[in-house]
Amino acid sequence: MHTPLRPCLALLRGSMVCMSALPRSALIATDASVPQGRPLFTFGIIADVQWADHEDGYNFAQTTVRRYRGAFRTLQRAVNWWLSLPHPPLFIANLGDIIDGINAKLGHSSLALDAALGELARLPCPAVNIIGNHELYNFNRTELSRAPWLKHGDREFHSFSPADGWRVVVLDPYQIAMIGHAADDPRHLTAVDLIGQRNPGVAAGEWFARVEGNDKRFVPYNGGLGWEQLQWLRRQLADAAAAGERVIILCHVILHPRACGGGTMLWDFPEALEAIRSEEAGGCVAAVFCGHDHFGRYFCDEYGVHHCTFCSPLNKGDEGNAFGLVRVWNERIEIRGLHMNDLLPEVRRGEPTGRPASTFCEGDAFSGPCETITLPV
Ligand SMILES: *[C@@H]1O[C@H](CO)[C@@H](O)[C@H](O)[C@H]1NC(C)=O
Repeated sequence: MHTPLRPCLALLRGSMVCMSALPRSALIATDASVPQGRPLFTFGIIADVQWADHEDGYNFAQTTVRRYRGAFRTLQRAVNWWLSLPHPPLFIANLGDIIDGINAKLGHSSLALDAALGELARLPCPAVNIIGNHELYNFNRTELSRAPWLKHGDREFHSFSPADGWRVVVLDPYQIAMIGHAADDPRHLTAVDLIGQRNPGVAAGEWFARVEGNDKRFVPYNGGLGWEQLQWLRRQLADAAAAGERVIILCHVILHPRACGGGTMLWDFPEALEAIRSEEAGGCVAAVFCGHDHFGRYFCDEYGVHHCTFCSPLNKGDEGNAFGLVRVWNERIEIRGLHMNDLLPEVRRGEPTGRPASTFCEGDAFSGPCETITLPV
């Protein structure tokens, strides 16, 4: 397999060690070698707001508190922060699950969605809204196919060019899914077959009793891209490579097992990674940005692709800052946030994720005080 030599790849060659393992001086040297000044484009980022007008609750295992109203106030603070920037972002990447499934039980699906979209509408820029599992707990695909806040919700994969030389590819992780489709939709039937084969425990009501390792992904809250979308992805990446463009992929569900807790990947993540690593793609993918796993994780893979899984505002509510700003140059991607560990953690379950160390920025022409990390691309 062939990929052009990228800075991150050069650092990684011959080892799986990522940037945090390098001496700080190496990072500073990398940083100083790239041009400063205005980025080609910037965008806001937020994942899994999952808000509901409901008192705080717990996850199924009763291990994690969910701050449903605090998550909404975090979205409000995020919008205020993006509004405060001297240069507004080009768009906001809402990485899915903007409302919680509990809204369906409360009969609040539309109310909660309108409130969240109303916050994003205070901005002068558009939001790129992504479908997550919680959208599908609240609305089915027929409804989403008519939703004005999506592009074409029955097949929500599309791409756009935010700046010369860059392409953003948005994936729909629930094309093959147990949730959202009509019972007789071929994409639902494919999902039922696949889960029946790969995780028979689901039918028996014990989702994790009979699966281990990466097979833990074969549960109904994940889904697959499916053949049609994978073909489309390969073509997008080949076109981008041929045009000399770099690519950022946005998806709710995670594409790499090491960018999450190990159970929240796409059912067909091996095929997705294969497409990214193909000769035709020519190493054009710089980064993959996801949500879904609320505790977030960073992983730079052996091909130099930065997999960033962003944290949910639901974790810390009013005490957290799970939102950020992404700034893109040809040689690097910078991520800014008020508190980087609230957005993209340096450590998860006591283990370093390999996320580059953040530095404090006192405020400049682009934002007030914040923390920042730089990913060479
Ligand atoms: C989708 O939801 C709408 C509105 O609740 C309902 O009328 C329709 O029957 C649903 N379609 C499917 C396929 O479940």
